[in-house]
Amino acid sequence: MVRINTNYQKLPGNYLFSGIAKKVADYSNAHPDKEIIRLGIGDVTQPLPSAVISALHKAVDEQAKASSFRGYAPDLGYEFLRNTIAQNDYISRGCDIKNDEIFISDGAKSDSGSIQELFDADTVIAVTDPVYPVYIDSNVMAGRCGTYDEASGKWSDIIYMPVTAENGFVPELPKKVPDLIYLCLPNNPTGTTLTKPQLQDLVDYANKNGSIIIYDAAYEAYITEEDVPHSIYECEGATNCAIEIRSFSKNAGFTGLRLGFTVIPSDIKVGGVSLKNMWARRHGTRFNGAPYIVQRAGEAVYSDEGKQGVKELISYYMNNAAIIRNGLKDKGYEVYGGVNAPYIWMKTPDNMTSWEFFDLLLEKANVVGTPGSGFGPSGEGYFRLTAFGTKENSERALKRIIF
Ligand SMILES: Cc1ncc(COP(=O)(O)O)c(C=O)c1O
Repeated sequence: MVRINTNYQKLPGNYLFSGIAKKVADYSNAHPDKEIIRLGIGDVTQPLPSAVISALHKAVDEQAKASSFRGYAPDLGYEFLRNTIAQNDYISRGCDIKNDEIFISDGAKSDSGSIQELFDADTVIAVTDPVYPVYIDSNVMAGRCGTYDEASGKWSDIIYMPVTAENGFVPELPKKVPDLIYLCLPNNPTGTTLTKPQLQDLVDYANKNGSIIIYDAAYEAYITEEDVPHSIYECEGATNCAIEIRSFSKNAGFTGLRLGFTVIPSDIKVGGVSLKNMWARRHGTRFNGAPYIVQRAGEAVYSDEGKQGVKELISYYMNNAAIIRNGLKDKGYEVYGGVNAPYIWMKTPDNMTSWEFFDLLLEKANVVGTPGSGFGPSGEGYFRLTAFGTKENSERALKRIIF
């Protein structure tokens, strides 16, 4: 008899954004005259940089001729892209990362969800709380994490590292040692990040205790402050314990194109086995390569024109972040993030729950954000707004928040 993977049934409720979409759809249906401004989901809104568009056109034309046609891409990625990434993202920052330690993929969500496959069923994971939900859900689907307690919003076997205003959004080193530590920096949802010494403490902890850090740097391009590392490999000893995941979605607007990569240094061994070799084996079996035209587009992101285009996109979104952050502060709200990330993490007023504030904002301002509690129990009492809208909508949304 066919039996399902019952771990899926342990997942509580709907994926956060489906729940929000339903509430917004119900409100829209009941009030068709109201125009809703969406500052909830983390999708970009601005078009791709011109260097990317030119590279796409060129690569499409190559596919039209037998002499330049490309079929299956190499499983691990084209050398032209791996080399460009190694030079621009790592070697130029003094990080000793080689082409063959870089694995091209279709995005950071797939990689951050799949990376747990390399580890044993009994692996204990630690996550920050609040957290990007993919890290937890992918482990639950694989049968880890124990049981979910509705009342506390926690899984019995996960180690939670709260990041709140009280601890300055710096996770405390766990007393019980986890096998895997998921970090997302700059952080979604809090928009905060860690300085290099703060991250070094986590790297030292991992090396001392034999833990592996899964470091999601999808928002690296938004860093504006000097003492914030762009890669975990800027920290001493990180090539012994850290896997870094990157995305082209938020820097260059590839949310629809799909491109990302994972770095697994050769030095990382677990029980004498190379994680890099395991991931290569996994990629070869489960993945048939990111499209040639998209990898060419990714390469163009690192050209001079591409870098300029990315800079303009980032400053557009970060200007929105400043509008929202400063606007809310002026109205007396307690606000975090928005300096090294396109997310603004605000405290809800008058001790409202995150969902109460969601409803208030939707009904009174027709603005959609994301309830902090959807990202974990320590997100309760917080609310996330994103800077990915248009400038006009960011300004209009702020004007509507008059409570
Ligand atoms: C922390 C984090 N990682 C990964 C992703 C997804 O990236 P990609 O579009 O490359 O799959 C997101 C998207 O919102 C994210 O917030």
